[in-house]
Amino acid sequence: RLLIIDFGSQVTQLIARRLRELNVYCEIHPFNNVDEKFLREFDPKAVILSGGPSSVIDKDSPRAPDVLFEMGLPILGICYGQQVMMHQLGGTVERGHGTAEFGRAYVTPTAEKLDILQGWFATDKEQVWMSHGDHVSKIADGFSVYGTSPNAPFAVTADLKRQFYAVQFHPEVHHTPNGAMLYENFVRIAGFTGDWTMGAYREQAIAAIREQVGDEQVICGLSGGVDSSVAAVLLHEAIGDQLTCVFVDHGLLRMGEAEEVVTMFRDHYNMKLIHAQEQELFLGELDGQSDPETKRKIIGKLFIDVFDKHARPIGAKFLAQGTLYPDVIESVSFSGGPSVTIKSHHNVGGLPEKMDMKLVEPLRELFKDEVRALGVELGLPPSFVGRHPFPGPGLAIRCPGEITRDKLEILRRADAVYIDQIRKHGLYDDIWQAFVAILPVRTVGVMGDGRTYDFACALRAVTSVDGMTADYYPFSHEFLGETATRIINEVEGINRVTYDITSKPPGTIEWE
Ligand code: XMP
Repeated sequence: RLLIIDFGSQVTQLIARRLRELNVYCEIHPFNNVDEKFLREFDPKAVILSGGPSSVIDKDSPRAPDVLFEMGLPILGICYGQQVMMHQLGGTVERGHGTAEFGRAYVTPTAEKLDILQGWFATDKEQVWMSHGDHVSKIADGFSVYGTSPNAPFAVTADLKRQFYAVQFHPEVHHTPNGAMLYENFVRIAGFTGDWTMGAYREQAIAAIREQVGDEQVICGLSGGVDSSVAAVLLHEAIGDQLTCVFVDHGLLRMGEAEEVVTMFRDHYNMKLIHAQEQELFLGELDGQSDPETKRKIIGKLFIDVFDKHARPIGAKFLAQGTLYPDVIESVSFSGGPSVTIKSHHNVGGLPEKMDMKLVEPLRELFKDEVRALGVELGLPPSFVGRHPFPGPGLAIRCPGEITRDKLEILRRADAVYIDQIRKHGLYDDIWQAFVAILPVRTVGVMGDGRTYDFACALRAVTSVDGMTADYYPFSHEFLGETATRIINEVEGINRVTYDITSKPPGTIEWE
């Protein structure tokens, strides 16, 4: 496996992505967790030093452990990683003085061809992405120059004898169009065969779960979402009946959703599944509540209570969660000196403390699309693992204002027609998330010869990468017209359909 030492660059995760795409297993660890003991235990086959916001000229700026450079490992330094390497190996780094470079730049080769640049320079120069204030002004002994850019005379350097490579630019970003090749060459030189597949991950993960859990009981909150579903199936494969899943049905699910989850996990996978039917409890407590945050708080608290009620008698020592890699990467904070901020993420916030359980997080090394691939590898239907995200508070936040059972039922039916339309038109996978919100407004209409006075609804569909920003989906007018007609004809209680064309920001994806 390969170790990425993180010096705090915004794009370190992209290095991991590029390597995973090459079927190379890697882990990112912050520089201040990496000492000699760590290196010996981790036993990497190669190391990449990431970029970062610091200046090696500053006294207390981050370093790699000196011993790293004596372990005989291939090392690739990127941007700050290059500067750290040069600085620690006897070269010199200087401050900008007009040589800072941000953005697109072009690297031209020096006479000799470098093995990690195989495939580069089909034309006389390669576009790269630079982002540096400092620059290397003298390279360390043993290094030679293989590429230069106008403001970085040492854009590409290497010490071939020691297999040390150092580049000033960022090969992991899209603006370095042939950057992936550089990683491909580096891992090949380092001896990786690209055999890290989902099948291999599955076996590894199963062994790790067995070792962690022993013969203790594990519980898992199953929401029917992709992450918790994949985690549950993986755990079940590892420990069988030591796993109990609790599916909290709060009465705020979509049409057919509870049946689908129960059938799939109980009947198809033969898992121990508690279907906690707590619709009365949730809808009772939500009665008369219209403030979005109050709704969320009520649902969150009841969720924990219900989960606790069903899970406690099992006496589980472990709680399984579908936490993903982007949620757990420890990010390096430079604001307060050497302190480290650790992003932590609990899908079922508050539970481990309350129930004194340890966490099992078998997906914590994976990105979202890898979780989907693992799901397919585990036999989950592709249509299931490709489902749009669905929020924990469910339909409660798609029913602005007060929630009533009638409104929920109308909403479920309208949503089912809308999603059916999207699937029929082959648009489901192009859209990040799509749903109907039922509005707290009644409008007048005319159907047949009669007057109607029913609810209006809004259709929402967005494209997004991570839900942080989003754009509305550009449906054709034909699609929108056909969908509106179907909803009004097929769903009693709705007589007006609108399409929400707000992006995020300034809007949010959900209406509440
Ligand atoms: P917003 O509406 O904030 O949504 O733009 C971004 C993404 O988060 C989901 N979402 C939630 N998920 N609990 C959740 O588990 C919540 O309270 C919640 N609110 C929004 C939303 O569906 C979208 O995918």
